[in-house]
Amino acid sequence: MKPITTTTTTSSSSLLLLIIALTAKSAATLLPPQPTYLNSTNVLICIGENYQYGCTIFVVPLNITNAKCQHLAPPYFHNVGSFKPSVGSFCRITYTRDSCTAHGDAFVNPTPGAPTMHTNFTDPADGENVDVGSMMSSFLCQECLNCT
Ligand SMILES: *[C@@H]1O[C@H](CO)[C@@H](O)[C@H](O)[C@H]1NC(C)=O
Ligand SMILES: *[C@@H]1O[C@H](CO)[C@@H](O)[C@H](O)[C@H]1NC(C)=O
Ligand SMILES: *[C@@H]1O[C@H](CO)[C@@H](O)[C@H](O)[C@H]1NC(C)=O
Repeated sequence: MKPITTTTTTSSSSLLLLIIALTAKSAATLLPPQPTYLNSTNVLICIGENYQYGCTIFVVPLNITNAKCQHLAPPYFHNVGSFKPSVGSFCRITYTRDSCTAHGDAFVNPTPGAPTMHTNFTDPADGENVDVGSMMSSFLCQECLNCT
């Protein structure tokens, strides 16, 4: 490997270094997602609306490698009244398919969560109030340090 000839002036070699630095930075942004800071999140899922009854806290892995579609099992399959991820994450919920779609049908943030999935949930697809609690099959959560 030949040594790099340094015939450029100080200012242009500084510029060159800057360009290299910027190139490295933009290349880094193209890398796949890095391991998450949070390894898991707690998701509160209840049969009742407003987290009133039939509640379970699911510990869901967030690590990019481990994160995977969470399929609801009875009694929650097609039977979710309220759903709330904890701070530092959000979840994509799927209710138009049997398993998670890449985008999900809707995003649910920790606040306010989705307290009334049978009676007061606006479907982003059409802006209509839809009983998604009777349709929900699965969800996929990801880290979001800004999600409070
Ligand atoms: C994420 O999971 C992979 C596979 O289990 C593991 O190798 C890696 O160390 C984990 N990273 C973190 C930050 O937990
Ligand atoms: C996540 O897991 C990694 C690897 O086990 C660990 O080093 C790290 O402290 C964990 N992060 C949190 C927030 O617990
Ligand atoms: C329905 O949900 C919206 C937020 O999505 C809230 O502002 C509104 O107060 C709720 N309505 C009822 C009747 O609970």
